[in-house]
Amino acid sequence: MVQTPCGAARAAGRVPFRSPLRYPGGKTWLVPTARRWLQHCRPGLLVEPFAGGGSISLTAAFEGLAAHVLMVELDPDVAAVWQTALGDNASWLADRIAGFQLTVGSARAVLGAPPPTVRERAFQTIIRNRVGHRGCMAPGCGWVRRGEFNKGITDRWYPKTIARRIRDLAQVRGRVEFVRGDGLEVMERLAGRTDAAWFVDPPYTVSRRSPGARLYPHSRLDHGRLFRLAARASGDLLMTHEDDPAVVGLAAAHDLDTRRVAMRTGRHEQKTELLIGRDLGWVGREELEQAA
Ligand SMILES: C[S@@+](CC[C@H](N)C(=O)[O-])C[C@H]1O[C@@H](n2cnc3c(N)ncnc32)[C@H](O)[C@@H]1O
Repeated sequence: MVQTPCGAARAAGRVPFRSPLRYPGGKTWLVPTARRWLQHCRPGLLVEPFAGGGSISLTAAFEGLAAHVLMVELDPDVAAVWQTALGDNASWLADRIAGFQLTVGSARAVLGAPPPTVRERAFQTIIRNRVGHRGCMAPGCGWVRRGEFNKGITDRWYPKTIARRIRDLAQVRGRVEFVRGDGLEVMERLAGRTDAAWFVDPPYTVSRRSPGARLYPHSRLDHGRLFRLAARASGDLLMTHEDDPAVVGLAAAHDLDTRRVAMRTGRHEQKTELLIGRDLGWVGREELEQAA
């Protein structure tokens, strides 16, 4: 693949936050690279089988980088957010968020009640996400205490912004489909789609040191099967994964190319991750230089 001049111009552009979720392991930092990739392959369908906060899917939909987008997520709480935000109850959810006074007490009251409906569950998930330390919603994750700006529980509570992001989704609703389910099954089912491109960002759980199990309630994954399916998929592929020898080995065993790229964690630490695909010759010099 060749990096197009048009792709390079977009890469230099700004990266708007589209997702109402503040997602641990989210890929907003990869948006410039994903734009270059999609500019080149221009898929009829972009599939994100491990959608989480969906930053790449939403970028593709808003910027017209794929004709259609399919997001898949197993976690029922996260799924409730997408089902609501992309469905008929989006305005209800946006209004509920915009009108909510967040305190420790009000958050406890919301999160303590069993969710009777999908839209209430979506609202609970947004609250849990915003009060969770670094957005983490897994059972062992605590709540924000002081926060980065000493604002305590409201450190990441921007109700107007979150509500606006949900309202903005109305612009792309017709092009984005959400499925609650197993991303591996969807990969199996759609493997033959030649017009599809796959952005695959699984939970990082390949070894005991991996971070994924701490970050997500649903983190167990058969990584061998994931690589078998990724190698079999007819369309273009961009996978991200942890920089671990076991992952490099799996990629090599399935004849997939790997590149190390630099990223900064939520704690502003520099780390490397892997990009995986069939031919990563298009990966920009800027990512590789940062990683060197
Ligand atoms: C690394 S996160 C994805 C982050 C996303 N790319 C973003 O930018 O926000 C991985 C996600 O996969 C989900 N997940 C785990 N196992 C899954 C499965 N079998 N099928 C679909 N989703 C799964 C987790 O709940 C988590 O939300």
